[in-house]
Amino acid sequence: MYNFTFNVPTRINFGKGQISHLSELTESGSKVLLVYGGGSIKRAGIYDTAMGILKDAGLEVFELSGVEPNPRIESVRRGVELCKANGIDMVLAIGGGSTIDCAKVVAGGACYNGDAWDLVIDPTKIKAALPIYSVLTLAATGSEMDTFAVISDMTKNEKWGTGSPLFQPKMSVLDPTYTFTVSQKQTAAGTADMMSHTFENYFTSVEGFLQARFCEAVLKTCIKYGPIAYNEPENYEARANLMWASSWAINGTLNGGCGVAWCVHPMEHELSAFYDITHGQGLAILTPHWMEFALRDETVDKFYEYGVNVWNLDPNGDKWAVAKEAIACTSRFFKEELHIPMTLREVGITTQDKFDIMAEKAAKGSVGSYVPLTREDIVSIFKAAF
Ligand code: NZQ
Ligand code: ZN
Repeated sequence: MYNFTFNVPTRINFGKGQISHLSELTESGSKVLLVYGGGSIKRAGIYDTAMGILKDAGLEVFELSGVEPNPRIESVRRGVELCKANGIDMVLAIGGGSTIDCAKVVAGGACYNGDAWDLVIDPTKIKAALPIYSVLTLAATGSEMDTFAVISDMTKNEKWGTGSPLFQPKMSVLDPTYTFTVSQKQTAAGTADMMSHTFENYFTSVEGFLQARFCEAVLKTCIKYGPIAYNEPENYEARANLMWASSWAINGTLNGGCGVAWCVHPMEHELSAFYDITHGQGLAILTPHWMEFALRDETVDKFYEYGVNVWNLDPNGDKWAVAKEAIACTSRFFKEELHIPMTLREVGITTQDKFDIMAEKAAKGSVGSYVPLTREDIVSIFKAAF
C-alpha cells in the first residue's frame, strides 16, 4: 500500500426530511446561488421545499437553471457571471452529478480572474472557491462527496474532469426519497456508473486487501439493489443503499493507497464528448470489452477473485473459466437486469469514423492504468463495443 491522505470533510445528512439542514447555509453568508437542471426538482416539489427553507433562514436566493446532462462550459460561465455580479457567498446544487459538477466549477470560477474553462483543463489554477452545498437527486457520480467535476465544451468535442479539495462539498443532503422519480434509464445508468467507479479502483496491481473488500461490498450492493430500484422505483431500502454506495464508490475510501489511473472513464468521456451519450450507459457498454482485453496471465487471479467474491462463482473452478464467467456475469447483469443497451450503435454511435481521434485522446488520459492501453488497443475496444 502506498502512502495516502484521506480527508473527506463533507457533512452528510442522510435520510427522509434531511433537506431541513439547508438552514445551516447561513454559516457561509447570506447570498446563495441555487443551481439546478432541466426541471425535475420542480416537478418533484423539491424546489419549493428548498426555497421555503432558504427564505425562512433569511437567505437571498439567485438561480442558475437549465444545467444540461453532460454540463456545458456555457452554463458554468453564466453561473460565474451571476456570482460576480451579485456578490454571491455560496453555491447550492440540487440535482444529479451534472448539476453538482457545474456548481463546483461555478464556485471556482467565481474566485478566478479569467475564463472558467482554464480551471477545467488545468486544476492547478483552482486556488479558491465559494463554499459548495448539494442536495442529491440521482445516485450515480458521487459528486456529492468528492472533489471532482466533469465539464464539456461541445464546440470542441472536449469533456474533461478537473478537481480540487476546494470542490469538496461542505454539506450534502442525501434523501433517498428524492430519487424515487429517477427514470429506469437513469437508475440503470447510475448503477453502472458507481460500479464502474468501483471497478476502476478494484482492478489495481497495488495490494490493498481492505480496499478490495470495500470494493466488493459496493459492487454487491449495486448488484442487489440496482434491479430492485429499477423495478420498484419507490423501494426505500434499494434507493437508500444505492445512494450511499454512490458516495462511497468515489470518495477516496476504495482506492486510498492502492489506486492506479482510471481507463474506462477516459474512454467513455470521449464518447460523451463527441456524441453526448449518457455517461453510465457508455461505461456499461465498454466495461465488459475492457475486461476481456485486460484478462491475461498477469491479471487472471484478480478476475478470478472478482468472480468468486462478487458473483459467488465456484472457488474450486478453473481460474480462467471463473474469470471469463465473471466477465460474462457483468455483461449479463447490465443487459438483462438493468436493460442497458449494450452496443454503441444502440446509443446512436452509428459510424466508426471518430474511433481514432477518440482513442488517441483516451490513451493519453489513461496512462498508468491497470493494464497499459495504446491508441490501437482502445480502437479495438471501441470496435468490439460497436
Ligand atoms: O436536469 P434535470 O431535469 O434535473 O433531469 C436530470 C437529467 O435529465 C434527471 N434527474 C436527476 N434527478 C432526477 C432526475 N429525473 C427525475 N427525478 C430525479 N430525482 O436525470 C438526468 C441526468 O442527470 P445527470 O445529473 O446528468 O446524471 P448523473 O448524476 O449521472 O451525472 C452525469 C455527469 O456526471 C459526470 C458525467 O461525466 C456526466 O457529465 N461525472 C461526474 C463525476 C464526479 N463529479 O465525480 C464522476 C463520474 O465518473 C462522471 O464522469
Ligand atoms: Zn463515472
